[in-house]
This record gives sequence, C-alpha cells and structure tokens, in this order.
Amino acid sequence: MNNTTPAIEAENLVKTFGDFRAVDGISLTVPAGSVYGVLGPNGAGKTTTIRMLATLLRPDSGSARIFGHDVVREPTQVRSLIGVTGQYASVDEDLSATENLIIFSRLLGLSRRDAKRKAAELLDEFSLTEDATRPLKNFSGGMRRRLDLAASLISAPPLLYLDEPTTGLDPHARAQMWETIRRLVDDGSTVLLTTQYLDEADQLADRIGVIDNGKLVADGTADELKASVGLSSLRLVLADPSQSNLARALLGSALQTEIGAAAESGKLTAPMTDPSKAPELLIHLREHGIEVSELALQKPSLDEVFLAITGTQNDRSAA
Ligand SMILES: Nc1ncnc2c1ncn2[C@@H]1O[C@H](COP(=O)(O)OP(=O)(O)OP(=O)(O)O)[C@@H](O)[C@H]1O
Ligand SMILES: [Mg+2]
Repeated sequence: MNNTTPAIEAENLVKTFGDFRAVDGISLTVPAGSVYGVLGPNGAGKTTTIRMLATLLRPDSGSARIFGHDVVREPTQVRSLIGVTGQYASVDEDLSATENLIIFSRLLGLSRRDAKRKAAELLDEFSLTEDATRPLKNFSGGMRRRLDLAASLISAPPLLYLDEPTTGLDPHARAQMWETIRRLVDDGSTVLLTTQYLDEADQLADRIGVIDNGKLVADGTADELKASVGLSSLRLVLADPSQSNLARALLGSALQTEIGAAAESGKLTAPMTDPSKAPELLIHLREHGIEVSELALQKPSLDEVFLAITGTQNDRSAA
C-alpha cells in the first residue's frame, strides 16, 4: 500500500438474489482522503454494494480491493481498515449510551481508562452528553443514529461506510453530522456515503456515483454531472411585473417549451439546453419592450440531474 493506492477499487461487482441482479456490474474507484457520494432510487443496489465492499456479502463475480486488500481473499485486513454504520444495531437496550460505547471500546482493545475517555469524547462530539446515562431504549431514532456513528468511530478506521447517515435527523443534527464527516476527512479518513438528500451529496462529496437498477449510470463531480445533463436555467426578473405573461409567451415560443408561472410575478425561469442563446433571448424581449432588471444563468440542481439520469423523482431531497 502506498499513498496512491485507492481506498476503494471495485471492478464489475455483481450480486444476484435468485435470478434478480441487485448489483449488475459496478466498477468504481475512490481515492484515499476523499468523500464519495452514492445516489440512487430505493432498491437501486446501494446498500448491497456497500455490503460487498465491507466483506458482509460475497460478490457473485467481480472484485474489490480496499487499500489494496481483496475483500474476498483478505477479509480480516479489510475489516481492520473500515468502519460501517448500522452494524451496531444489537447494542444493549437496557444499558446507557456511555456503557454501550465503553463496551465497544473494550471489545476493540482499549484500556478501561481509554475506553471511558473515548466514550466521553464521542458523546460530546455528537451532543449526547446530556443523555449519556439514559438507557438506550429511551433514545429517539436520531439519537440512535448519532450513537451508531459514534460507535463506528471508536477504532478511527481510515475508511468509513455511511449508509444514509442523516436520514431521519433533524436539521441541527444533520448539520452536526456534516461537520463531523468533514472533520473526519480533514483528518485523513475516506468516506463512502449513500444519501437520499441530493443537497447532501452536493455539499459533502468530492465525487458522486448514481446507481440505478444495479448499474453505475453516472460518475463524476457534482459539476461534471450537472454539465453532462446540459440543462441550465435562465432566471429573469422583469422591471415591470405586469409584463410577465407576455414575457412568458415570448420565451416559450422562442425556446419551444412551456415556461412555468413563478409564484412571484415578474420572476421567470426558463430551461436552457444551450446557454449561449441567452443574449438572443434578451434582445428578443427588449424588441418587445420588455426590460429585464435581473438575470442569472444557473446550473441545474442535483435534483434535476437525478431526474434526468434516473427518470425518478427524488421526493425526499427537499426535506
Ligand atoms: N438479502 C436479499 N435477498 C433478496 N433480495 C434482496 C436482498 N437484499 C437486497 N435485495 C434486493 O436488492 C435490491 C437492491 O437492494 P438495496 O438494499 O441494495 O437497495 P438500496 O439502493 O440500498 O435501496 P434504499 O435506497 O431503499 O436503501 C432491492 O430490490 C432489494 O429488494
Ligand atoms: Mg439502502
């Protein structure tokens, strides 16, 4: 292993359940020290892929190496290099958060003193200090999720798999989780995360893979994915809002598309497959006596990219 060995190198991974190909030939490379975001509709094969990369499920064919170690032939080395959230589901419900973390720490070989210190540190990091002595059975879903990630950080693994780390978290806890993930990466960790929140991938991930029907259908930076869809938006604010209908009609016929009515009159958003056409449109409007007071050419949102690539609306993304 050296500095340029990727954290994850997967080639043509396949996993079938019966005659259903849940993962159908996925290849991906994740450089060490980066965040890779995996997006995809429900049932696309994201968790199944992670389970293979985490040695929890044996691929039917294809191969994967974690920091150069093969997941099938060297599972022990691989396990020493990874942390997986979700694997601590079977914690003791009658024990407190502190007690659970101390048990995990002891299992990982920490001394009694170090285990206590580590537990306190992690509980503080995830704002669980106040609830540290309550039995786990009284914890909310969000608190459990935070404790789950805390537990996976005890061994400070160089590669972390986070399967939907922020699903069900309130906005404050979500922001905190993002901060934690960023700090982990600053400290040299590599993170592979799946998420249903496209803004999360946009904010956190260096590269994003979109999985659909068991296949990697897109892979790149958020900007590359946006550019590949080729859908920008021209956003206009009219000097005179009473001209909105006329402007909509003019833009609609020029672009051969329906321009939606904005909630606020005087504001228009037009889809543009060719942003270089924007000046012509403005001239066209001016020729009809319409003055524009503000304009912006915007890249598509990751939501629009997702819809264009998978044909599936991501209805949780706005949450
Ligand atoms: N052990 C299993 N036996 C049979 N089918 C399975 C098994 N595990 C997963 N599947 C199927 O494989 C497909 C992919 O599942 P997977 O959990 O990888 O999807 P996902 O992308 O993680 O979805 P989600 O966004 O809902 O978490 C699904 O159709 C699922 O029903
Ligand atoms: Mg899943």
